[in-house]
Amino acid sequence: MSDPILLVENRGAVRILTMNRPDKLNALNSALTQALLDTLLDADAASDVRALVLTGAGRSFCAGADLSEFGTLTPEEPDAVRTRAELTTRLQAQFPRLGKPVVSALRGHALGGGAGLALACDLVVAAPSLKLGYPEVAHSIVPAIVLTGLVRQLGPKLAFELVALGHPIGAERAQAIGLVNRVVAEDALLDEAVRLAEAMAKVAPIAMRTTKELFYRVMELPFDQAIAAGRDANIMMRGFRKKAPT
Ligand code: COA
Repeated sequence: MSDPILLVENRGAVRILTMNRPDKLNALNSALTQALLDTLLDADAASDVRALVLTGAGRSFCAGADLSEFGTLTPEEPDAVRTRAELTTRLQAQFPRLGKPVVSALRGHALGGGAGLALACDLVVAAPSLKLGYPEVAHSIVPAIVLTGLVRQLGPKLAFELVALGHPIGAERAQAIGLVNRVVAEDALLDEAVRLAEAMAKVAPIAMRTTKELFYRVMELPFDQAIAAGRDANIMMRGFRKKAPT
C-alpha cells in the first residue's frame, strides 16, 4: 500500500499535518490539495484539537502546484480547469476561516501555492534553508489565487517585487519583512512550531476562535466597521470570560 499523502499526528491538543510527497517536494496535486482541505475541516470540527501545525516531509515544505498536472489543465478542458481552480481557492481561503490557529513549519522550498499555504497560516516558523517565492511568471502563468494572501501581509512594493521577478527570498529576509515569526535551526523547527501551537492551545477555545475571527475581519473592514466589530466582540466576551477569583 502506498504512503498516505498527508500524515496526521496528534500531540495532545495539537494536530500536526505533514504533506507527504517528499520525492516531489510536496507539490500540490489535486489529491494532496483535497486531503489538506478535508483534514483542516475535520480538525476544525474536532473538539480535542485546539491548534494545528502544517509542515512538509523531506527537504522542502512545498514546491507549489504540481506541474505534471498542468498538461490536463488546458482550454480544451474548461470543467477540469474550473474545478481545480475552485479546489485551490477553497484550500487557500480556508485558513483564516478556521477557528483554530495554525503554525507553519517551513524548510527548503515554499513556492507558489506552497508560499500561499505557508503564509495563510497564522504563525510561521522557518529554518535557515527556507526559499520562499512566487516563480509562476517563470512558467508564463500568474500567481493568481495566492496573490490575495500575499498583498494582505506585505507592503505593495515588496509584494509586487516578489510576484513580478519571481526570485525567492531566504528565511532572514522573510523574517525581516514580517512574513516569518521565528527562524530556528533545522533540527528545532518542528519542536518550535509545536511549542507555539501548544501555547495557543492553552487559550480557551471560544476566546481563541473569537480572537482569530475578529483579527481577520478587522484586517478587511473599513475603520468604523472594524472598531464596531471590536466593540461587539468586547461585549460578547463578557459572557464567556472566566470569573475572577473572589
Ligand atoms: N510539481 C511537480 N513536481 C515537482 C515540483 C512541482 N511544482 N517541484 C519539484 N518537483 C519534483 C521534480 O520534478 C523532481 O522530481 P523527479 O525526481 O521525479 O524528477 C523532484 O520534485 C525534486 O525536484 P528537483 O528539481 O530535482 O530539485 P531541485 O532541488 O534541483 O530544485 C526546485 C528544486 C523547487 C527549484 C525545482 O524543483 C523547481 O523549480 N520546481 C518547480 C517549482 C515551481 O515552479 N512551483 C510553482 C508552480 S506554479
